[in-house]
Amino acid sequence: PYPLYAELRETPVARQADGSYVVSTYREIAELLHNPHLSSDVRNLSRPMEAVQGRTTPSFINLDPPEHDRLRRMAMRHFGPPHTPGLVTGMEDDLTAVVNGLIDGFAGKEQIDIVDDFAYPFPVTVICHLLGVPREDEPRFHLWVDAIVNSIDYNPETDPKEKLENGVQAREDLRQYLAGLLEQRHGKPGEDLLSRLANDDGPDGRMTDEEILATANLLLIAGHETTVNLITNGMLTLLRQPQMLQRLRSEPGLVVPLVEELLRYEPPVHIIPWRAAYTDITVADTVIPKGSKIMLMLASGSRDPNRFHDPDVFDPDRRDNEHLGFGSGIHLCFGGPLARLETQIALTALVQRLEEPTLVTDPPPYRPSPVLRGPIHLHIEQNKN
Ligand code: HEM
Repeated sequence: PYPLYAELRETPVARQADGSYVVSTYREIAELLHNPHLSSDVRNLSRPMEAVQGRTTPSFINLDPPEHDRLRRMAMRHFGPPHTPGLVTGMEDDLTAVVNGLIDGFAGKEQIDIVDDFAYPFPVTVICHLLGVPREDEPRFHLWVDAIVNSIDYNPETDPKEKLENGVQAREDLRQYLAGLLEQRHGKPGEDLLSRLANDDGPDGRMTDEEILATANLLLIAGHETTVNLITNGMLTLLRQPQMLQRLRSEPGLVVPLVEELLRYEPPVHIIPWRAAYTDITVADTVIPKGSKIMLMLASGSRDPNRFHDPDVFDPDRRDNEHLGFGSGIHLCFGGPLARLETQIALTALVQRLEEPTLVTDPPPYRPSPVLRGPIHLHIEQNKN
């Protein structure tokens, strides 16, 4: 039930010793996410984000309007519902094939790690297909993404210095690879995202190569560990509630509200750590002074009893479920339709194909990250009869 969040919610807008503000209640978080005086631009923010992203062109998650809106619109045109029938629309069969291929790989294993054997490779494969990375290059692509994700997450299993160096090298290699791929796509219209971005003119014109590379990189990073964690948190929640797992098996349509409830109850992104106040902002009778850094505790907002009935109960039948799992406002997760589809297909296939799965360790080991929440491994066993 996250008792720390309940404690934080007693002071909806709390000033920290370092002068930053922590906002933990639903109404205030939602209000701030829609406030045009909050900036996401890394150039206005404090060190840690700059250290990660400072030397490259910021991607639109870290930009404010009007730059943000222009780049987001240009990428969104190709991405699909609810805006246009785009890349995600036709992906269902492709995603099902990837998922089934991964589950086929479980054969003969005594224990399966839902993270390493399934949830981790899945989103990268999907992004490769989306971007148009040729199949033969996928293994290299996976290695770079592993190194990059490892360098920015809080995996306690890897040496911090080594992972940082690996991350820098992998970023460079990935960038060069994508730049090469993009070069080949100029003048060759095609269905994949890189071809579309390189060749299609929309009302906002065309992205520069720099902008395309920053966008491709953003889709990879923003869509990877988040999706891994949603799938893994989903399996964990189902394995802890076997009657729910059975229900999903016999009632496949339940997966849609179930994934929505997961985004509220066990969201992969707990905190938006990066907003800055452009002006003095008053919220819940507190004045946040101009220039302050603001942390938005999304997961706490989604468990706020003033907003959700019985917030600590996992209830896929709940009607009123406007959770904060994908944020809200102009930066509302761009990959929501894809992440939902991936997770729906993944959970459906896992509950259909695993035979009486049980958890080996409960609770599983977690990444010690305050921002991204999910197990680092989730070992399960199947009925051996
Ligand atoms: C933004 C969560 C999957 C691409 C966001 C934000 C959240 C979020 C909370 C808002 C950040 C902010 O306001 O600063 C998630 C979760 C996911 C997921 C929980 C999986 C379950 C994906 C996927 C993609 C993606 C699969 C792409 C393929 C993006 C992008 C943004 C974003 C590009 C920035 C949007 C903007 O700045 O306008 N995501 N995300 N996400 N997400 Fe996701």
